[in-house]
Amino acid sequence: MTQASAPGKAILFGEHAVVYDQPAIAVPLSDLRTTVIIRSIDAQPPSVHVVATDLDHSFWLHEMDDRDPLAYAIRLALQATMPELQESFEISVSSKIPIASGLGSGAAASVAIIRALSSFFKVDLSDASISALAYRVEKLHHGTPSGIDNSTIAFEQALYYKRNQDPQPFSLGRPLQLVLGHCGVDSQTGAVVAAVRDRWQASMEEYSAIFSQIGELVERGYDNLKAGDHKQVGILMNENHALLQRIGVSNQALDQLVARASTSGAYGAKLSGAGAGGFMIALVGTETRESVARALQDAGARHILVVQVSG
Ligand code: PMV
Repeated sequence: MTQASAPGKAILFGEHAVVYDQPAIAVPLSDLRTTVIIRSIDAQPPSVHVVATDLDHSFWLHEMDDRDPLAYAIRLALQATMPELQESFEISVSSKIPIASGLGSGAAASVAIIRALSSFFKVDLSDASISALAYRVEKLHHGTPSGIDNSTIAFEQALYYKRNQDPQPFSLGRPLQLVLGHCGVDSQTGAVVAAVRDRWQASMEEYSAIFSQIGELVERGYDNLKAGDHKQVGILMNENHALLQRIGVSNQALDQLVARASTSGAYGAKLSGAGAGGFMIALVGTETRESVARALQDAGARHILVVQVSG
């Protein structure tokens, strides 16, 4: 039996603007993981059985086409590790990362699958090659991904990220305590990114100016995260949320949760990921963690997660 896993991720600064070549910062959520287990099975000719445990769904790989992201990730990983299949195996995928919520569940499944297969077939793949393969699956999910999800998840480190450049891992000055609240509406990254593109095309000057302002916030956020100045990081998160509102990717439920987090003691809060649904994140201190989680619950959050991001 071979097992591998990959974490979720949260974008702290710069979502959407990163698609337009501005920098962004994301951190892995190592407590929330997708796990993949591979076991040899008896089946002839050599075949792959896939079990998506949480979806209560299973299939033979040869019966699925590449539009299924799990099938596509497995095929890409097999091309890189064992192009001529000589044995049968079952691959099960299970996850603690909520789907369609901005936490990188798709990229985590891809990375965990690729890692598990590389270990099963004893083919060493670097984090960069795993990330590059997972990026190809991300493209299937949502057309023009920046690559921040697969990079943060494959490297499992805090990253300063710019499209088409090597990701820059960095150390946080202090661990982060985050409370995440789901606003109750699912988020489809591809659709939200496409809608932003339409609006950018219609008002290019205005949108490009907002993306540049987000880029400036990211630089300041980067300095303050390295210095461990969470008060400043929180202020910048609030500013980032206001700019995300201006590009139309927040909604009333996210705005309410963000406002409640701030009035209940968080350093700051913002939506995270594509928006128009999914999770918001609040940066808190140990002493405010409980009060913020309770306030988000009172404000109607569908799902609350309290996580720590170390180093
Ligand atoms: O919703 P998520 O977790 O896939 O994050 C999307 C982040 C965007 O910046 C909106 C898109 C991207 O590809 O970077």
